[in-house]
Amino acid sequence: MCGIVGYIGDKEASDVIIKGLKRLEYRGYDSAGIAIINGELHIKKGKGKVKNLESMIRGVASSHIGIGHTRWATHGEPNDINSHPHVSQSGKLALVHNGIIENYTSLKKKLESQGYTFYSETDTEIIAKLIESFLEKNPDDLRKSVQLALLQVTGTYGLAIIHSDFPDEIIVARKGSPLLLGVGENEMLIASDASAVAEYTDKVVYLDDGEIAVIRKSDYTVQSADEVELTKEVHELALSLEEIEKGGYDHFMMKEIFEQPRAISDCLRGRLNVEEGEITLGGIDKVMDQLINANRVVIAACGTSWHSGLVGEYLFESLAKMPVEVEYASEFRYKEQLIGEGDVMIVISQSGETADTLAALREARERGALVLGVVNVVGSTIARETDGGVYIHAGPEIGVASTKAFTAQVTVLALIAIKVAQMRGKLDKERSKALIKELSHIPQKIQEILDQSDKIKNIADLFTYAPNFLYLGRSYSFPVALEGALKLKEISYAHAEGYPAAEMKHGPIALIDDMMPVVVIAATQHTNDKMVSNIEEVRARKGRIIAITTPGNEEVAELAEFTLTVPETMDELSPLLTVIPLQLLSYYIAVNRGCNVDQPRNLAKSVTVE
Ligand code: F6R
Repeated sequence: MCGIVGYIGDKEASDVIIKGLKRLEYRGYDSAGIAIINGELHIKKGKGKVKNLESMIRGVASSHIGIGHTRWATHGEPNDINSHPHVSQSGKLALVHNGIIENYTSLKKKLESQGYTFYSETDTEIIAKLIESFLEKNPDDLRKSVQLALLQVTGTYGLAIIHSDFPDEIIVARKGSPLLLGVGENEMLIASDASAVAEYTDKVVYLDDGEIAVIRKSDYTVQSADEVELTKEVHELALSLEEIEKGGYDHFMMKEIFEQPRAISDCLRGRLNVEEGEITLGGIDKVMDQLINANRVVIAACGTSWHSGLVGEYLFESLAKMPVEVEYASEFRYKEQLIGEGDVMIVISQSGETADTLAALREARERGALVLGVVNVVGSTIARETDGGVYIHAGPEIGVASTKAFTAQVTVLALIAIKVAQMRGKLDKERSKALIKELSHIPQKIQEILDQSDKIKNIADLFTYAPNFLYLGRSYSFPVALEGALKLKEISYAHAEGYPAAEMKHGPIALIDDMMPVVVIAATQHTNDKMVSNIEEVRARKGRIIAITTPGNEEVAELAEFTLTVPETMDELSPLLTVIPLQLLSYYIAVNRGCNVDQPRNLAKSVTVE
C-alpha cells in the first residue's frame, strides 16, 4: 500500500527520500512522487517505479527538506496527475497522503464554490486545498491550519505536508494510517514504515490516531487533536539493515523461505523448557486466566494470517478442547455482533497494520472482549492496541507473499494452544512434553526440506504453464492446501484452489482431467487412509498428482506421479513442514513465468484500507 517518507536535516533530502521510497517498494505501489523546497516547491511525480522518479529529480535543486510518496491507487487510476504529492492552489503547499477521505465529494463541492480548482481524481487533492483555505485566515500557523482542516475530514489518513513559506518544518498527522518519526542527530525523518528510516536512526516515535506533529531539523512537537502537547515515548528500533536487504538471494521471498529455520528458532527462543515440558509466554501471562476460562474464542485475520488462524482452530480444539471460530476480519464487523465480555479475540497479523483486522479488534474491544495479538511488526498499531499478545519474531518480511510469517504464526498458535491445554488440564504431561520437544526439532526439519529445493524446482519446471491447480488436504493439511493455492495464484497468476480433500467430490472433481495438477498434502497419520482414497479418486480421472507426504508412505508414493517428502512429525505440527514445499513450488513457477515475485501486480504488503 501507499508509503510516505520525509526528511529534514543537513543531508540532500531527495537522496534520503528516494532511498527510503525504495525500501518501501515492497509494500506495493503504482506511482511515486517527491516534493522538495529550495526557495520554492519543486515537485516530480508520475506513474511507474521509484527509479524513474530518481532520474526525474536528479539535479533539479538542492534541498534539505522534502516529502515523498509511493501510491497504490484507490481513488483515480494510476497516472501522473493522480500521483502524490498534490499541491495547493497557490502552488506553495505540497502534501502526501495514505488512507481514504470519505467525505471528499462534499468538501470538493464546497471548495469549488469558493473558487478552488481541482486537477486530479483523487480524494487527497482536497486536503491540500482545504488546508490552504484555513491558512489564508492563519497565515503564520501551518500546524493550526492543518488541525482546522482535519476537523472537517472524515476518513483515514497518514499525512505529510510542506510549504515553501515554512521551509523549516514538516507537518504530519495520523488517523488510521501508520506514521512514525525517526529521531536522528540534527535530522529528522518521517515514514509510514520503519524500514525507511532504519538506515539513519534507531530511535523512533510512533504517532497515535488524532495526533499532529511539527517536525524540525533538531526537534519535534506532538499534539493531540484537541491541541494538548504530548510527551511521546521514544522507542528503540530493533531492525538491522542486513534484515531488510536481499543478502545474496534473487528475491526477498526466497530469502524469507530459507530464513524459516532461523525465524522459528527465534520465535521459540526463551519460550520452551524442553526438559520440564513448559512454555513461557510473557506477553499473555497476566491474561491467561481470562483466556482459559473464555466463553468464546474468536480468531480474526486476513489472507495468509487467516490460514494460520485456521490451523490455530484445529490446535485449540484438539489440544485444549476449546471451541474456536475463525473469522475473516473483513467480514466480522458485518455480522451480528455477539462478541462481548468474557470472550477473547485473537487477531493475527504479520504487519500489525491491516485495516480490516484492526477494525475487528476495535469492535471486539469496544464490546468488552479481551483482545490478544499474534503480530510480527513490533510497535505496529495492532500490537499497541491489543490487551496482550505474543510476537512471532520472524524478522522483517519484505516479499509481498507471506512465508516465514505463516510458519512463525503457526508456531506461536501451537505454543498458546499447548499452554492453554496444560492449564485447562486437557493435555497429559507426556504428550505435552512430546509436543514441546518436537517443536524444538522443527527448525532442523524445515532445513531438511529446504535442502531438497532442487527436486521441487524440477517439478515446478514441468508444471510452469499449467493454467489451473487444485490443492487438497484434510484436517491440519486443509489450511495448508488453502495457503499453497494462495501462494501460487498471488505470485504466478495461475489459477489455484484449495479444498478439503473430501469436498472435491462435491464439485471440483468435475475439473480434473489429464491436464490438471493436483497437489495433495498427505502427511498426517490420522487422515492417511481417507487421503489415499481421495488420491485414488483423482488418479481415476487422470489428474496429475503431486503428493506431499512422509518418507515411509509407500501407499501415497505409489499412487502419485511425483512425490515430495517432508520429515515425520506430530500431526499437530505438520503444517510447519508441509507448507514449505508449497512455498518453493509457487516461487519457482512464478520465476519461470517471469513474474515479479516480490511485488506481484495489484497486491500490497500491508493492506491499510478497508
Ligand atoms: C499473502 C499475504 C496476505 C496477508 C494479508 C494479511 O501472501 O501476505 O494475504 O497475509 O494481507 O496481512 P497481515 O498478516 O499483515 O495482517
